[in-house]
Amino acid sequence: MSIVVINALSIPGEAGPELEKRFAARKHSVDQEPGFEGFQLLRPVNGEDRYFVYTQWATREDFENWRDKRSGAAHAHNDGKQPVASGADLMEFEVVEL
Ligand code: HEM
Repeated sequence: MSIVVINALSIPGEAGPELEKRFAARKHSVDQEPGFEGFQLLRPVNGEDRYFVYTQWATREDFENWRDKRSGAAHAHNDGKQPVASGADLMEFEVVEL
């Protein structure tokens, strides 16, 4: 059963385009991770003001392995640039088999 982990990123002011540019530049950087099944960057409209990074993994362990591997400085998502995100909230789900 796959799991979904959503990272909700708070992005101040007009920083959305810069965030999208950084994701576009790294969109294949997770492709080869064991158990990684894909991600989407969801731009907020209509009331919500956070970007959601929707990620899918084969198992929770696969997600944890990836997260632990790039902990600390290794969340070097932004290549040493100032982060644009001012906050991040994690949500986890199991995909219901219907
Ligand atoms: C659910 C899994 C994920 C977690 C827990 C996570 C965590 C975070 C956190 C805490 C931030 C804000 C801190 C920062 O700006 O450096 C962030 C930003 C970012 N993440 Fe992730 N992330 C996840 C998935 C991904 C994936 C799959 C990608 C694909 C490339 C990615 C690329 C980025 C980029 C480009 C930023 C923007 C950095 C910036 O603000 O300049 N993330 N992520």
